[in-house]
Amino acid sequence: MRSLSSIIFYFFVILTLSHFSTSTEYLKLPLLPRTARPSPSHLLSADLRRLTSPLTSGAATGSGQYFADLRLGSPPQRLLLVADTGSDLVWVKCSACRNCSAHRPGSTFLPRHSSTFSSHHCYDSPCRLVPHPTQQHCDNRSKIHTPCRYQYSYADTSTTAGFFSSETTTFNTSSNKPTTFQHLSFGCGFRISGPSVTGSSFNGAQGVMGLGRGPISFTSQLARKFGNTFSYCLLDYTLSPPPKSYLTIGASPSHKLLSYTPLLTNPLSPSFYYISVEGVSVDAVNLPIARSVWAIDADGNGGTVVDSGTTLTFLPEPAYRQVLAAFRRHVRLPAAEAPAPGFDLCLNVSGAARPRLPKLRFRLHGKAVLAPPPGNYFI
Ligand SMILES: *[C@@H]1O[C@H](CO)[C@@H](O)[C@H](O)[C@H]1NC(C)=O
Ligand SMILES: *[C@@H]1O[C@H](CO)[C@@H](O)[C@H](O)[C@H]1NC(C)=O
Ligand SMILES: *[C@@H]1O[C@H](CO)[C@@H](O)[C@H](O)[C@H]1NC(C)=O
Ligand SMILES: *[C@@H]1O[C@H](CO)[C@@H](O)[C@H](O)[C@H]1NC(C)=O
Repeated sequence: MRSLSSIIFYFFVILTLSHFSTSTEYLKLPLLPRTARPSPSHLLSADLRRLTSPLTSGAATGSGQYFADLRLGSPPQRLLLVADTGSDLVWVKCSACRNCSAHRPGSTFLPRHSSTFSSHHCYDSPCRLVPHPTQQHCDNRSKIHTPCRYQYSYADTSTTAGFFSSETTTFNTSSNKPTTFQHLSFGCGFRISGPSVTGSSFNGAQGVMGLGRGPISFTSQLARKFGNTFSYCLLDYTLSPPPKSYLTIGASPSHKLLSYTPLLTNPLSPSFYYISVEGVSVDAVNLPIARSVWAIDADGNGGTVVDSGTTLTFLPEPAYRQVLAAFRRHVRLPAAEAPAPGFDLCLNVSGAARPRLPKLRFRLHGKAVLAPPPGNYFI
């Protein structure tokens, strides 16, 4: 197995859907890391399930590291959703119970306990934006309410299905004022099946918050009101006490301090956030990697995607070989006698109090540099 294990702890991404606004108020949603740190091999197998071709959302593979804390309904019900820039649909587990005292609060969304819940009609325009089960019939002539059914499958055939619905959500703004957003379209999931969206691999989440570029994503729906901008900053949650990470919707003042790289679109995968890698250096030495290794080709293959739902960073084979060779050249530590299976480079650090490790830097278009701390690529 070849992979560059790179758990990105410090990572700031600003995703501009079209242009900035002058509004200074923005929404803040806490992003929570999952509590148990999975092993590198678990992360690798989860990410590899996600990275089957074509690229699919990692939300369902259990590799999503961050949850968004969402308040849905009136009065608000608190739910934990996997925050996933690699998919568009927002969905939650729903329960149709009327007397729901048997349900642990926060374990499922209870539409009958909300005064603002409604399901879209099958002929409403939002209904055209979601995939339907094959037996969906829509009778336009009768006035009978036919709810909009959706069915959404992930790469491993795990499925969420139910009613595409509308609800009110509540947030805190940057000045800590509660504010509501009406008519968030989301999937109210009544049939959820498959290993990745049930059981332990879903890490106790109640759904997925799709943050992709499509029209039904959480960010596309909300950002329209806040200058078409959102950002998230993932801080090192292994610190004690762990700093709080947030998903912000709207322009935040800290934007001025950052460097930028343009986001590219790929018509083959319009939901994903592509960036342009221009080069890689190890200890400030640029590696001879052809530009074509990073490019999106005429068929829409290749390219580099930024994705909150994938934990590890994957490099194309020619780039990976160059990075590995450069690490071998630059490292001043003895090789381990018994290399761990699955790792291409194992060093013996028992003789070094503070081992010096090679510095890996990605140069991105627009002069931005991604320089993760060595702890993100040496375990
Ligand atoms: C709801 O459930 C509770 C506890 O099980 C019970 O006391 C109550 O009478 C039920 N209410 C209705 C309207 O059924
Ligand atoms: C139903 O009617 C609406 C307009 O009233 C129209 O936009 C829509 O395309 C129709 N849907 C079908 C399935 O015929
Ligand atoms: C807003 O902030 C207050 C105070 O920090 C907190 O108690 C409340 O749960 C927050 N509400 C939401 C919707 O996040
Ligand atoms: C690491 O090096 C030490 C000596 O510094 C040696 O005793 C030990 O066996 C080595 N361990 C591995 C796994 O290579």
